[in-house]
Amino acid sequence: MKICVIGTGYVGLTTAVSFAMMGHDVIGIDIDQAKVARLQAGETGIYEPNLEDELQKMLALGNVSFSSSLEEGILASKAIFVCVGTPPQADGSADLSALHQVLAAIRETVEQTADKAQTARVIVIKSTVPVGTNDRIARLFADLPNLFIASNPEFLREGSALHDSLHPARIVLGTEEPQALAILEELYASIDCVRVKTTRANAEMIKYGSNAFLATKISFMNELARLSAALGADIREVAHGMGLDPRIGPYFLGAGLGYGGSCFPKDTSALTELGAQHGVQMPLLQQVQQINEQQPAWFVAQMKRHVPVLAGRRIALLGLSFKPKTDDLREAASLRLIPLLLQEGASVSAYDPLCNERVRQLFPDVQFADTPYQALAGADAGVLVTEWEQCVNLDFAQVRAGLKLPFLFDGRNAWNKQAITEAGLRYIGVGRS
Ligand code: UDX
Repeated sequence: MKICVIGTGYVGLTTAVSFAMMGHDVIGIDIDQAKVARLQAGETGIYEPNLEDELQKMLALGNVSFSSSLEEGILASKAIFVCVGTPPQADGSADLSALHQVLAAIRETVEQTADKAQTARVIVIKSTVPVGTNDRIARLFADLPNLFIASNPEFLREGSALHDSLHPARIVLGTEEPQALAILEELYASIDCVRVKTTRANAEMIKYGSNAFLATKISFMNELARLSAALGADIREVAHGMGLDPRIGPYFLGAGLGYGGSCFPKDTSALTELGAQHGVQMPLLQQVQQINEQQPAWFVAQMKRHVPVLAGRRIALLGLSFKPKTDDLREAASLRLIPLLLQEGASVSAYDPLCNERVRQLFPDVQFADTPYQALAGADAGVLVTEWEQCVNLDFAQVRAGLKLPFLFDGRNAWNKQAITEAGLRYIGVGRS
């Protein structure tokens, strides 16, 4: 099927490449001409495992192309995917200006063409938008009878985005219009998973609810980790024991420095703001956000129980991106931790496989290293901030030889505690006895 994908960020590009891999004929549209040229040349400009390889393969096969011309994309396509950003505004609500610009351009393009009443097309909103937005869009387009609106939220995780797009746990199809549903069913025909066919509003709420619930699990475990640290329990064992209950499940029970990224912080604040706009207080979700924001400060307080005076000490941070296997720094715990340590009077050295240069622009006083060992050499203590494989699997005897004090603080509970202890170092995790 001929489709176009408007917006070629993490979600749009992954969507375009994954549909091309399913055999569809995809045009990716972006207003940024330099980006379009780069994508045409087979460069993603972002790090996402396998995405660049598959992009190049799909370009060579002719299954995907890129353009800045909305008209070209829209007129050729039966499905128009909108994947533009909906970043948070100052009050936490989602900024829909990019979405509205795209919708206005789609309307203009369709109106100016002779076939406006003939070709059935569906505008598929993948961008995360406040509940009710898709229905409002449908009302705006009600005068164009063959143009349908559907909500089809994405659930892909950065670091495994392509895999998640091709092997989703479910596909949510939010539309009650049979023609729109038929187009979407045909598009996703090769994917074997449950379809949730529902209303547009339900689809929007499923997306927010899923992210808010996952964020809640993490903050709950971080709160329990604080208590575990105070009482001498080990949160990893607690999580394991809890997760065996099928009603709880083993995932997203990992205590650490808190969640970051482009979705959880943005979607939890958009949801509480949506509640406020409709007179519904959401105290649970407010606490989830507050616990997350406080987690790096709580962690520094834990560090000070072992190194009471951080002033004059050098702390080595391993990993800077918000999670491993991505170069995304949005809402990364590292960006909260660095200023907290600098405020304490500590100096900071850091290593990340992909983010050193961009963090250097934000914090020019940090010393950046090419390897974890280089960051740790001569430091007083080390902190695991992001569980990159190259930061987790270390030779701890070599680490011990370079560190001035014997402390390793595990901000992700991912290091091998026994190996660290055997190397003569002190291991301090998040909520671990
Ligand atoms: C998330 C959702 O998982 C995805 O479905 C949605 O569409 C977009 O948002 P992503 O932000 O890419 O995906 O990463 P995810 O793997 O969910 O991790 C988010 C954050 O939570 C990371 O900072 C991670 O370190 C943290 N996390 C995750 C924990 O602190 N503990 C856990 O147990 C799991």
